[in-house]
Amino acid sequence: MSVKQITRRDLIKGAGLAAAGSVLPVSLVELAFANEAENFTFAYISDSHIQHIRGTEFVRNWDRGLMQAVAECRLMDPKPDFVVFGGDLAQLAKPEELDHGAELLSNVPGKLHMVMGEHDYYLDYGEYWSKLFGPQWYSFDHKGVHFVVLNSILTYDAWNNRWGSGQERMAQMAGLDNPDGSPFLVGDTQRKWLERDLDGIDHDTPIVVFSHSPLQKIFKGWNFWTDDAEQVQALLKPFKKVNVLYGHVHQIQYNQIGNISFNSVMATAWPWPYPSSYAQAPSYLSKLTVPMNRADPFFERDATGWQYIDVNSGRLAAHFLLPENAPRTVAFDPAQGHPVDQGFQDPANRIPPQTHY
Ligand SMILES: [Fe+2]
Ligand SMILES: [Fe+2]
Repeated sequence: MSVKQITRRDLIKGAGLAAAGSVLPVSLVELAFANEAENFTFAYISDSHIQHIRGTEFVRNWDRGLMQAVAECRLMDPKPDFVVFGGDLAQLAKPEELDHGAELLSNVPGKLHMVMGEHDYYLDYGEYWSKLFGPQWYSFDHKGVHFVVLNSILTYDAWNNRWGSGQERMAQMAGLDNPDGSPFLVGDTQRKWLERDLDGIDHDTPIVVFSHSPLQKIFKGWNFWTDDAEQVQALLKPFKKVNVLYGHVHQIQYNQIGNISFNSVMATAWPWPYPSSYAQAPSYLSKLTVPMNRADPFFERDATGWQYIDVNSGRLAAHFLLPENAPRTVAFDPAQGHPVDQGFQDPANRIPPQTHY
């Protein structure tokens, strides 16, 4: 049974089964992991943009996206080992938004790992977020894999100091194509921390990095961009299996740079356009093979989704669960040495974009 033929309900119930059939031969999985690690799955929800209107009112559609992802996540069998939220929980970093988002996320099964997004940060430099969720960068080990969480949405002091208030700073950073925005940074402090964190870790240990912005340069005009991406990549270079999983772009992307596989995740709030369809300036994404219809104004959940991730060989396979759309899998292909969209690689198979007048 191909992934395309499986319904969304089947995929949730049979997550492990579908993964075993679509990622790697079982013998290879066993060989790859030997005694050092086990196969497991975790769930990843991102970019919910919970938006406060007034009093106890919030934008209903953004709430619904997060609620649906959490509810589906609870039905997964086998249960995910943990859940990651990939950033942009709030729209304007207001305490009301972060509180409400935290309440909705309190229903995920098992441990929750949080990643900082720019929409959670620029009002108060992440102070309230940190009170709720803890440190903005950290690492942990799970079943033989070393996980690193970075706050990749920092920027230059000169830009921060341009604005008179936190609200103004937040409003500037909240726009997709704002020419007055500023590129993202991991920054010196975290890069030094990362160097120390990785020191002494065996180079055969699979590494998974969670960041909100892509740790690669895709399209600067929309801040699909991290200014010190190459310096972070250099720290990850000694390791044989490195995976970077990022949110922020609200669409499926994948790439391979040297030893590092990159996978983006879907948003539960709304889809962003594809850089290749709108950008007047060059886009650096190597391949964008998974365009979907978007966005249907008559269907509020169009082109949104969440994902579960297999770590079968220390390489990630991202299974995207897309409301009212066929599920998709982007998995590392050992033969080709990079992630591959397993259902939609052939451009002839693409769904043409819709035109709305
Ligand atoms: Fe976002
Ligand atoms: Fe973002």
